[in-house]
Amino acid sequence: MRAQFATVTDPKEAHARCDEARRLGKRVAFVPTMGALHEGHLRLVDAARERGGFVAVSVFVNPTQFAPGEDFSKYPRDLDGDVAALSERGADLVFSPSVQAMYPEGACTQVLVSEITAGLCGAHRPGHFAGVATVVAKLLNIVGPCAAIFGRKDYQQLLVVRRLVADLDMPIEIVGVPTVRDADGLALSSRNAYLSVEERQRALAIPHGLAAAHALYASGERRASEIRAAVAVPVERAADAVDYVGVADPDSLAPILSGEIGDRALVAVAARFGRTRLIDNTVLGEDAPPVRGGS
Ligand code: PAJ
Repeated sequence: MRAQFATVTDPKEAHARCDEARRLGKRVAFVPTMGALHEGHLRLVDAARERGGFVAVSVFVNPTQFAPGEDFSKYPRDLDGDVAALSERGADLVFSPSVQAMYPEGACTQVLVSEITAGLCGAHRPGHFAGVATVVAKLLNIVGPCAAIFGRKDYQQLLVVRRLVADLDMPIEIVGVPTVRDADGLALSSRNAYLSVEERQRALAIPHGLAAAHALYASGERRASEIRAAVAVPVERAADAVDYVGVADPDSLAPILSGEIGDRALVAVAARFGRTRLIDNTVLGEDAPPVRGGS
């Protein structure tokens, strides 16, 4: 029987509700989010329902993962809409704590995941992954799930979370869900709401570039420089600024700057359109191309 849907703000109450579900013999599956939910987030809820009889979702815009000058204060927030969508989609518990509840006076512990945070977004957003790892560790401790669900859209974040649960001996299955895209290929993101019509049009260079990389790979191309150029050239033309276009080992995230890629390779992009920073990625040899039929 489905638990009574509830929304709570107090970490202790969230913990107690999850304990109660476990006492009733249910597996708890957990989806952490920052809210402003879209279909990408809701697919994670679907994946959670497949793995647990009790689905907890957190909605918390975590200040510690935003660097000064980033969009923390204007990050889109719509808790009422999120709660309605989560109830509709079959979540059991929504946990939306305050910043004060998550970081009370005196909190000074950080979780630092090294090596795999050196490149890609880690190189461009100082402190970002320390903020992510710390809040995810806290949320996992509060909820105590059997499984936690993350999107491959934030591929580096997914690896950081896998690393942290392995290194801290947290007995939690980490599930990665494929990126959900609009019909034209643009990856769904809460930040897409910032884009003007014209910026959104230009942003399609990202999925088209990633699709071109897939097409090259399918034709037998293995030179990292050529694969990178298939993405970098259109994205550099369309974007207002490019943080990175990188080809990397999909497990270690070690950059592949020259020579040939292996059977699988991560191609990851971060670029700005107006004031909006978008990220996207694909794993050649593993993921489906983001746009049908290549570029
Ligand atoms: P947020 O950006 O809200 O994303 C929450 C989860 O939804 C992440 O696992 C993210 O990868 C996934 N997601 C976002 N867009 C997606 C898409 N188009 N397709 C599939 N999954 C998608 O990521 C965060 O929040 C935070 O860093 C968090 C992990 C909650 C820690 O604060």
